[in-house]
Amino acid sequence: MFDARYSIRTHIAGAITADSIGETVTVAGWVAKRRDHGGLIFIDLRDRSGIVQCTFDPDASGAAFVTAERVRPEWVVKLTGVVRRRPEGTENPNMPTGEVEIEIAEAEVLNASETPPFEIEPGIDTDEVTRMRYRYLDIRRPEVLYALSLRDRVVQRFRRALESYGFMEVETPILGKSTPEGARDFIVPSRMSPGAFYALPQSPQLFKQLFMVAGVERYYQIARCFRDEDLRADRQPEFTQVDIEMSFVTEDDVLAMMEAVMHEVMKEAAVDLPVPLRRLTYAEAMDRYGSDRPDTRLGMELQDLSRVFADSGFKVFAGALASGGVIKGINAKGAGDWSRGRIDALNQVALDAGAKGLAWVAFTSEDEVRSPIAKFFSDDEMAALREVLGVEPGDLVLMVADARAVAEEVLGVIRLKMADELGIERSGFDVLWVVDFPMFKYDADEERYAANHHPFTMPREEDIERLESEPLSLGSYSYDLIMNGYEIGGGTLRIHNADLQLRVLERIGLTEEEARRQFGFLLEALSFGAPPHGGIALGLDRLVMLLAGASSIRDVIAFPKTSSGADPLTGAPDAVSARQLREVHLKTD
Ligand code: AMO
Ligand code: AMP
Repeated sequence: MFDARYSIRTHIAGAITADSIGETVTVAGWVAKRRDHGGLIFIDLRDRSGIVQCTFDPDASGAAFVTAERVRPEWVVKLTGVVRRRPEGTENPNMPTGEVEIEIAEAEVLNASETPPFEIEPGIDTDEVTRMRYRYLDIRRPEVLYALSLRDRVVQRFRRALESYGFMEVETPILGKSTPEGARDFIVPSRMSPGAFYALPQSPQLFKQLFMVAGVERYYQIARCFRDEDLRADRQPEFTQVDIEMSFVTEDDVLAMMEAVMHEVMKEAAVDLPVPLRRLTYAEAMDRYGSDRPDTRLGMELQDLSRVFADSGFKVFAGALASGGVIKGINAKGAGDWSRGRIDALNQVALDAGAKGLAWVAFTSEDEVRSPIAKFFSDDEMAALREVLGVEPGDLVLMVADARAVAEEVLGVIRLKMADELGIERSGFDVLWVVDFPMFKYDADEERYAANHHPFTMPREEDIERLESEPLSLGSYSYDLIMNGYEIGGGTLRIHNADLQLRVLERIGLTEEEARRQFGFLLEALSFGAPPHGGIALGLDRLVMLLAGASSIRDVIAFPKTSSGADPLTGAPDAVSARQLREVHLKTD
C-alpha cells in the first residue's frame, strides 16, 4: 500500500490505528458518509487505503464544524485533528480503524462533487452500462479497486518470476500486419500509403518467433491483443496476454517452466498450486468431459454406452452405431424427479448444440423407470446401463447417439448445464493441461482445412509424412492451460523449418504465391538459422477474473467495452470528420 510521503497529508486513512492515539494528523480524501447527530457531526473519510471516522464538535472544532455542515458525499476534503480512542461501545471491529476517530480542528474543502449516480459502496445493483458510463466512480468502489490492484499484483508476480528465469520483455508493434489467430482483424487505414491498411495484432505471435530467430531466447511481454469477434463474458475486443516464447526447448520444458511460473503467481490468491499439473490429451478430455477445457470438479463424466447397446432394438441407437457413430451418456445424479417440461427444455439445449435428440431414462425407484424409449431396451441392456453409469434410484441418465465428435460435444454442453441446474459445488482451483490437439480441423463453411491452433504449430514429427494425404490424422505439439473450465492459456512448439512451414500454409489452402506474399518475412526468417522454439500466451484477464472470483473479465479491466463493443464513457466508437476520412483515402456509405 502507498503511504503519505510526497503528499499534502501526514497519514493515509486506512492506516490510522490505536498506535496513532494522541498524534495530530492530516488526512485527505472523499466524504464517504456524513451523519449529523444533533450537534455532533461524523464524517467517514475514504481514500484508496480505507476509511477513517472524523468527528466535528461545535465547541471544539470551530470553523471546521461549519465546513462539516455543508459538505456532501464525494466532496474532496483535507482534515486535520487529533487521533483519539472512540468512546466505549462505539468501536467498530469490522474496520481496521474501528477503534479510533480523529477529532477535527481544521477542515478544508478541496473540491465539491455532484451527487453520484450510484452509491460508492460494495455490492450495489446498479446496471453495468451505468457503471461503465461513470467508470471512474465505479473504480472508487472497494471491490473494483481491489480487482485492479489484484491484477497489478498478478502482473508483478509474472514479471518477477519470468525475469528470474532470464526472460526479457520486448515490445512489439501495434500497427502491423494481420496475424491469423482465427478472429477478424481490426484494421487501420494508412494516410501515407493510400488504400493500404495496418492490422492491429491478434497476438504478437510472429514477432515473438522472429525474436527467437534473432537470438533473444527467452522473451515475454504483457501484450495487448485485438480481435474483432462477438463478445462474451470471457471475451473482449482488446485483452491482455502474458506472451511467452523460448528457444531450444521441448514441449515438456515449456510446460514445466509455466508450472513454475504459475506456482508463483497463484500465491497471490493464497493458493499453493500443486505441480506438476495433470495432463489430459485432447482426445481424453473430449472422451471424458465432452470439452477441450473441462472443469473436472463437476464429476458427471461421459461414458461410452456403444457396447451396452450394440444390438439395440431402438432404431435411433442402432442407426447411429451402423453409421460408425457412438452412444454416450451421463448420469445426472438426483435429477430423476425432473418434470417432462424440464427435460424437454434440456432436449432443446441438445438440439441447439447440434444433436438430433436427447434420449433419457429417469430412475424413479429400485425397479421403476420413466422414459419414452426404455420400452425398446432389454432387461440386460437396462442392467448394463445401470452398471456402467453407477445408477441409483433418483438419477437421470441422458444419452446422445451420433458421430463421436457430436455426441461428445453435446453431452459436454448438457453436463455443464446440469451442473448449474443441480448446483454442483465448484470450490477451489481446478488447473490442468490439455495437450496433443489435432493439427488441423475441417472448416465446412469454407470447404478447407484450417489449423486448430495456428498454422505456425509444429505437427508431430512421426505424422508429418501424412500432411498432404491425411491432414486430419496429424497430431501437434500443443497445449492449453485450463482453470475451472476456462482456457486461460494456449501455446505450441513452432515450425522452425521454412519448407515445412510452407507445406503447412499450402495445406490450409494458400498457394505458394499467397503464402509468400502474406508470410514471406516469416519464411525468410526461418531460413536464416531459426532455432527450435515454442511458447504460450496466458489470458491475463481470464486468470485475474478467476482469482478475483468475478464472473466476467469486464470486472477486472479498468475500462471495458459493452457486448456491442462500445465504451459508454467516451462514446467510442464514434464518427470521424470528413477531413479525417479524406486524409486516409476513405469514403463511407
Ligand atoms: P490464443 O489465441 O489461444 O493463443 O490466446 C491465448 C489466450 O488468450 C486469451 N484470449 C482472450 N481473452 C480475452 N478476450 C479474448 N477475445 C481472448 N482471446 C484469447 C485466452 C487464450 O487462451 N499466439 C497464440 C499463443 C501461442 O501460441 O503462444 C495465441 O494468441 O485465455
Ligand atoms: P424418435 O423415435 O425420433 O421420436 O426419438 C425418440 C427419442 O429419442 C426422443 O426422445 C428423441 O429426443 C431421442 N433421440 C432422437 N435422436 C436421438 C439421438 N441421435 N441420440 C439420442 N437420442 C435421440
